[in-house]
This record gives sequence, structure tokens and C-alpha cells, in this order.
Amino acid sequence: MEERVQKIMAEAGIASRRKCEQMIKEGRVKINGQIACLGDKASSTDRITVDNKPVKKEEKVYIMLNKPIGFVTTVSEQHGMKTVMKLVKDINKRIFPVGRLDKNTEGLLLMTNDGELANKLMHPRHKVWKTYEAWLSRPFKDIEKLRKGIVVDRVRVEPRIKNIKGKKIILEIQEGRKHIVRKMFGKLGYNVTKLRRTQIGPLKLGKLAKGTWRYLKKYELKGLMFNR
Ligand code: URA
Repeated sequence: MEERVQKIMAEAGIASRRKCEQMIKEGRVKINGQIACLGDKASSTDRITVDNKPVKKEEKVYIMLNKPIGFVTTVSEQHGMKTVMKLVKDINKRIFPVGRLDKNTEGLLLMTNDGELANKLMHPRHKVWKTYEAWLSRPFKDIEKLRKGIVVDRVRVEPRIKNIKGKKIILEIQEGRKHIVRKMFGKLGYNVTKLRRTQIGPLKLGKLAKGTWRYLKKYELKGLMFNR
């Protein structure tokens, strides 16, 4: 059976399907030695390579990392920057972060080699709620404005407010756009001084120590796959 090359790559744990499409566009992917084009299909007998390395199926792994501030959520080495990959180097699989957290955001980061799941969780259509704890530059007084939603770069963000206590606010958003929480509070005239993600869908960070990781439990994985 033939399938789109990006689907085969994602299933083999190379990256999310969208990232794999990008790799195809960049000419890094070959099918039987020929550079692949977006839209090409392949079957199990075809030899697919990325950067001339063969694409092989590998066992799926799912971990959560409590990302400390100061680390960037990229797979590739960034000159002079600490990446989250350094914190999970004992895992000898090609895992990658699902979505992103800013360098100065801490908390829950899901990492996997399951491109299909990553794709589902990141796709705006799937609307996964994410919980953030934000500490602001001054006590928060604009609850009604926040409840109505804040337009950031022409798109309205509609958070669910969980708790407000002085300068600290706990809220949920479905958005995955870059700097979205900071931008949202910026629109209301607040600086975010500290930001922590504590939950993605049903998956909770809990008491995992900063800078450490653990494998997801079976029920956590099921929750992510079927109960977003
Ligand atoms: N919103 C932000 O502003 N930063 C993050 O890291 C995540 C969400």
C-alpha cells in the first residue's frame, strides 16, 4: 500500500507531519535515491532517506519534561544555546518536543517520536486546552476584559480563567501561537514576569522536579490520544 512520504516519516518518528513536509520541500528527503517532492507516495519496499540517512520504524516513546527556564525547545543545535535535547539525552530515540515553550517559560513539555500524535495535538483543529500559571508585573484587575477574549495579531484568544490571586493567574487556552500568553497580557498592559505550563489536555505536570523527565503512564497516553 502506498502512503504519503510525510506520513511514513512521521510514523517512523522523524518529526511531526508538518515538519516532515518542510523537510521534503527543502529537498532533504529521497525515495530510492531520487529527491522527493511534496505529494509523493511510497510503499514499504521503497527506500526513504532523510539527509541520506535511512528512515526506519522505531518503538514509540512518550515522555514529559519539566522544562527549566533558559532552554530552547528545538531539536537542532542552536549556537551557544542550551536546548531541551540536552535534558533528555539518555533516551536513545529521536524524540522531539510537541509544540514549543519560550526560552524563559518553564513547565510541562511533552516529547515523543510519534509524529502522528504530535500532529494531532498541535493542529489548531484539535483544540487542546493548555493550562498556564502566569505571574504578572502587578495585581490583575481586568477579569471582564480577559473573559471576553483578547485579539492578538487579528485573532481572538478566549481563555478560561481558573484562578486569580493578586499577581498570579491560572488560565487555560487552546492556542499554540508563539508568545501568546505574554502577548495577551501585554495587550492589557501587564508584563508576564514568570510563566509555567502545568497541563496539556488531560496530562498534568504534577510534582516532577525541574529539569527532569519521566515516561508517560499508560492511562496518561490513552487520555492524550482519546480524551483531548
Ligand atoms: N505563551 C507564551 O507566551 N509563551 C510560552 O512559552 C507559551 C505560551
